[in-house]
Amino acid sequence: MADIAGFHRATIQKRTDWTEQLFSLRVIGAPLQFKAGQFTKLALPDAEGNVIARAYSLVNAPLTSSDTLEFLIVADPNGQLSPRLQQLKEGEVIYVAQSAHGDLIFETIPKQTKNLWLLSTGTGIGPFLSLLDDISLRPTSDKIVLVHGVRHERALVYRYLIEQLQQQYQGRLVYQPIVSREEVSGALHGRINDLIEQGVLSEACDCEFSAHNSFVMLCGNPAMIKDTTTQLLNMGLTKHRKAEPGNIVFERYW
Ligand SMILES: Cc1cc2nc3c(=O)[nH]c(=O)nc-3n(C[C@H](O)[C@H](O)[C@H](O)COP(=O)(O)OP(=O)(O)OC[C@H]3O[C@@H](n4cnc5c(N)ncnc54)[C@H](O)[C@@H]3O)c2cc1C
Ligand SMILES: NC(=O)c1ccc[n+]([C@@H]2O[C@H](COP(=O)([O-])OP(=O)(O)OC[C@H]3O[C@@H](n4cnc5c(N)ncnc54)[C@H](OP(=O)(O)O)[C@@H]3O)[C@@H](O)[C@H]2O)c1
Repeated sequence: MADIAGFHRATIQKRTDWTEQLFSLRVIGAPLQFKAGQFTKLALPDAEGNVIARAYSLVNAPLTSSDTLEFLIVADPNGQLSPRLQQLKEGEVIYVAQSAHGDLIFETIPKQTKNLWLLSTGTGIGPFLSLLDDISLRPTSDKIVLVHGVRHERALVYRYLIEQLQQQYQGRLVYQPIVSREEVSGALHGRINDLIEQGVLSEACDCEFSAHNSFVMLCGNPAMIKDTTTQLLNMGLTKHRKAEPGNIVFERYW
């Protein structure tokens, strides 16, 4: 395949299939400069030679010793790019944009944060795994709560990595899975915003949402972000802006 302006030509090293729709791609050969928690674009040309490019978050932190990039992707059967990414095999070509963006990064977290909440649905857990995995810039908050909301238990991905991270964070990192469409032992049942409103999430994680000491990062389903942000605003937290520090930042996936 030909080169695409603004993109690195890279290679699929490995594809991991988690469910029928959900998979991870490990990509090598793209010397992308990025910060843990950011996203870039992946692209493929279509049959007419048009470039189809979409944003995807990095799951891994930047590695000084390798150019490996990992992505967690859900295939939308009606989508233009994601079903094609799901078909990619080891050794095949993929294009990776030459820049990365996004504010779900270490620098965004106010230094005085005591409780760091990382609220995700579906593939939105990706940037938080990247952020937590960056050994050179670990969030320093007293407590970090990683929340992953999914429809079914089988979408609770990267459990082995999360267990490793929990060991490395030596008691500071709480992982709270939430499953909405089946009862699962060890997971809460329902939706993130409802569980916050009912006080269930705070109690389960032994961590409060407070305008004074909490910072909340949200990623994934835009409806979850809207409903959860409304709930947090009702509790007195405020949106965070560079010019006006607050408690809430988010990244919508669609
Ligand atoms: C900043 C940013 C980061 C992103 N990171 C990721 C990521 O790490 N992993 C990932 O899978 N997607 C991610 N996305 C979504 C991704 O860019 C594409 O929109 C998605 O893969 C669909 O592309 P497509 O060409 O297959 O579908 P299109 O032809 O563009 O069709 C879009 C349809 O898919 C739905 N949709 C879009 N994204 C998702 C999604 N993630 N889950 C469920 N439904 C969706 C929309 O409601 C819409 O109906 C991100 C989006 C943004 C804006
Ligand atoms: N992941 C899969 O195994 C799977 C299977 C079939 C199809 N798909 C397709 O892939 C897409 C993504 O699926 P997904 O499961 O990753 O993500 P999703 O639809 O975003 O669901 C992830 C979690 O977000 C919750 N959620 C949805 N709207 C919310 C809101 N307004 N407030 C709070 N929480 C909310 C869901 O709860 P609810 O369950 O209550 O909605 C679910 O627990 C879907 O659009 C679907 O077309 C995925």
